[in-house]
Amino acid sequence: MGAADDTSDVVYAWDKNLLNGLSLDEYGIKLDEKYSWINPGEGLVIRPLSSQDFDKGFTDVLSQLTRLGDVSKEDFQKRFYAMKASGGYYTLVVEDTEADNGSGKIVGTGTLEVEQKFIHSCALRGRVEEVVIDKEYRGRKLGKLVLGLITVLSKKLACYKTTLECKVENIPFYGIFGYKEDPEKFMQLRFHD
Ligand SMILES: CC(C)(COP(=O)(O)OP(=O)(O)OC[C@H]1O[C@@H](n2cnc3c(N)ncnc32)[C@H](O)[C@@H]1OP(=O)(O)O)[C@@H](O)C(=O)NCCC(=O)NCCS
Repeated sequence: MGAADDTSDVVYAWDKNLLNGLSLDEYGIKLDEKYSWINPGEGLVIRPLSSQDFDKGFTDVLSQLTRLGDVSKEDFQKRFYAMKASGGYYTLVVEDTEADNGSGKIVGTGTLEVEQKFIHSCALRGRVEEVVIDKEYRGRKLGKLVLGLITVLSKKLACYKTTLECKVENIPFYGIFGYKEDPEKFMQLRFHD
């Protein structure tokens, strides 16, 4: 049993059973056996974000993506429970259960956000957000697994489409799962960093 399983008071951000039965085969991607999503590598697990992940360095990984700002453990907890209550946030993490002398360390993450719409017959729309793998763990198919799981989960949850914004250099990475450049332009009004 790894560090990810031996905590009785752990709270998950969303129902981990939603991961049951997900397969990446439908995208024509044959992942190496040892990189299956259940066992992505020695000591690694992929699971929903938990209430204890601040102590496992969740925000350290996020800071490798963009400016994190000041986020205390209390801030994390408040946001964690607000997101859980809202129901539309599916954050996956990759944990190295053997790191830090077996306490476990978050080494990757990605989030599916599901928006409720009136259009398209009261459809759901998915958004891929904050996909990042710790520098030390890149190139081990973990990003691909996280993105693949987010993608098939959004389909399972019946999103009519799933979109994302990314840097130009990452377009080929997202293309693996069929994401295509949209002719519509993305606009933003930024109030602060
Ligand atoms: C982009 C990122 C998530 C990829 O994670 P990773 O675990 O290193 O990638 P993987 O090992 O899963 O790579 C899967 C495949 O994608 C390819 N790939 C990885 N990063 C890529 C990139 N930036 N552009 C194009 N292809 C890429 C790999 O070559 C690999 O191809 P293969 O299956 O044919 O061998 C990771 O590099 C990262 O965290 N980058 C910094 C944060 C970031 O830019 N996030 C995306 C926000 S838009």
